[in-house]
Amino acid sequence: MAEILPLDKALRPALALLAAGEVVALPTETVYGLAGDATNGEAVARIFEVKGRPRFNPLIVHVSSLDMARKIAVFDAVSLKLAETFWPGPLTLVLKLREGHSIHPLVTTGLDTVALRMPRGFASTVIETSGRPLAAPSANSSGRISGTTAESVNEDLGAKIRLIADGGPTPVGLESTIVKVGPEGVRILRPGGVASEEIEAALGVKVLRGGVANSEASVEAPGMLASHYAPDAALRLDAAEVAAGEALLAFGPARIAGAERAVAVLNLSPAGDLREAAANLYHHMKALDRTGAGVIAVAPIPATGLGEAIRDRLGRAAAPRDG
Ligand code: TXA
Ligand code: MG
Repeated sequence: MAEILPLDKALRPALALLAAGEVVALPTETVYGLAGDATNGEAVARIFEVKGRPRFNPLIVHVSSLDMARKIAVFDAVSLKLAETFWPGPLTLVLKLREGHSIHPLVTTGLDTVALRMPRGFASTVIETSGRPLAAPSANSSGRISGTTAESVNEDLGAKIRLIADGGPTPVGLESTIVKVGPEGVRILRPGGVASEEIEAALGVKVLRGGVANSEASVEAPGMLASHYAPDAALRLDAAEVAAGEALLAFGPARIAGAERAVAVLNLSPAGDLREAAANLYHHMKALDRTGAGVIAVAPIPATGLGEAIRDRLGRAAAPRDG
């Protein structure tokens, strides 16, 4: 069983477990991560095992400085500008691995690129203190909803890990935005905690979206499986009304027809604020799923700002299951 410790008590045991090649769940500003030393093959293998994650799906490497990042990967000018603008923060850059880097090949599943991110807060302290980059996927079983509280991580993975550092609910609530800069432009491989509009404003260019339509598409964002973030209930998106027996995931002040028939109602943001909605998304999805309702009707959510990432996750949660 995992021990759940507040951050001030968790630092030393977390460092000791990581140095011993164990995995630790810890908060980042986006979601909780299941962290291991990215240079230690056994630790990385353990991450895949605990999550039940397919070995073809590479992990994000977390760093505590640009210096550390540049020992691992080669930065083009645009990626450097993005790092300088958004790090530390919810932005992940896919970059070419540098010759002589120390990242274990299991992390990148043999690709010649690596996904790098500089997180805020406790995760950053752990990396800085140990001097080691951390491989950390979201702390959830593969295909399930990411953990945004220590309790939800404990429910899902508590039996398989020794320590959960409890930093309370994660402020952003959604995973990082994954960006890859290439000859064709700046591509968002996964929308997330930094809105596309913010990236466009910082760079003064339009971004491209989604994987590319060529044979490499499967590795452009290998984790972007259609069915992901899956609750047990089915999701019905952009619902204009609620049917009897359904739960309702509401957004904003507008009332949805038939809302009084819902078995349970949670509002992502009564004021219609997309940042607040992102922070509440996974918690509310899990809470409505626990009511046992067969269907969760989801109110329309605008596709602007963080709404793009919210709609992306809801779409994946609604996709047909592949088992
Ligand atoms: O906010 C986040 O990004 C959280 C926190 C813990 O940092 N992490 C996270 O990791 O969401 P994970 O493993 O759940 O998602 C990582 C995504 C996957 O879709 C994976 O396929 C993609 O990053 N990825 C990793 N390396 C890649 C690479 N070299 N090229 C393209 N995509 C990559
Ligand atoms: Mg994940």
